[in-house]
Amino acid sequence: MTKTDILKMLNDADTYVSGQDICDKLELSRTAVWKAIKQLKEEGYEIDAIKNKGYLIKSVPDRITDLEIKSLLADGDIVEDIIYFEETDSSNNQAKIMAEHGHKMPFLVIAEEQTAGKGRRGRKWISPKKSGIYMTLAIKPDIPPQKASMLTIVAAMAVANGLKKACFDGHEGICQIKWPNDIVINKKKAVGILTEMSAEPDMVNYVVVGIGINVNNNDFDESIREMATSISLESKAQVSRRDIIAGFIHEFSRLYKTFEESSDLSGLMDEYNKCLVNINNRVKILGDASQYEAQALGIDKYGRLLVKKDDGEVTAVLFGEVSVRGLYGYA
Ligand code: BTN
Repeated sequence: MTKTDILKMLNDADTYVSGQDICDKLELSRTAVWKAIKQLKEEGYEIDAIKNKGYLIKSVPDRITDLEIKSLLADGDIVEDIIYFEETDSSNNQAKIMAEHGHKMPFLVIAEEQTAGKGRRGRKWISPKKSGIYMTLAIKPDIPPQKASMLTIVAAMAVANGLKKACFDGHEGICQIKWPNDIVINKKKAVGILTEMSAEPDMVNYVVVGIGINVNNNDFDESIREMATSISLESKAQVSRRDIIAGFIHEFSRLYKTFEESSDLSGLMDEYNKCLVNINNRVKILGDASQYEAQALGIDKYGRLLVKKDDGEVTAVLFGEVSVRGLYGYA
């Protein structure tokens, strides 16, 4: 914990933190502080040390370990634990195993690399090292199983808000949600979410919300090249994966508290609809058996997409039953 605590103190300060302050606050000896700083430097942190002034973080490595993310947690964050894997099959799988074994929820599993990343509809989520963020939030909401898909909506809002703050300050409008839970940047997909659940008829055991974010990827498989993008391609700037993850945790914690008040999306749907790509535009609704065009009106408190058909009828489109596309492409 020493390293995490020191890192947190240095992260929270925008000026030099004196060695004595660190010793006093964390009840550590000078030697212990010096050793921890030395270790952090060895791990790639650039830390300026000036006699009589103290320590200042100049740059951080692009690491998303539990140590790094824990040091960025803030008051009010609801995540109880962060678990980091250098490599795993799928962060969703690991989160499910840990939830089954009774690990205290909510917790977040982060993987640097996934060897069997899963997408929706049985697809793969290609998850190479350093390129992306692969994380899964495990949570036990006090709601009936039919409402669990609403958490995907909450998570999508949290990712979108986190990305706007961390990467698109001043250009927030280009980062939007494609109902129900993809995030698009300039109308191309940069984030996918896969939610899985274990439940009894009237009770949720756990929900795992797996989030894949294309961060530094700059080349995509031909099959998805037209519709996929990454944060670095669109922001044309240095992107910090740890800031995106921390932003997600802060935002999810805030939004989840509002969700819990009503156990539905009534307190969040206006905010969601403001981020919705194609709001008020015509979209294509693609079902298994049929497809039609309609105007997208926004979500209701159950997370259903309300659309107005050409005959004026307003109908609610359910999760998982259809795909929604823009008229001229993916979003
Ligand atoms: C989609 O198909 O759009 C959903 C993709 C979800 C990918 C993420 S990456 C982290 C988590 N672990 C997985 O195996 N899948 C999800």
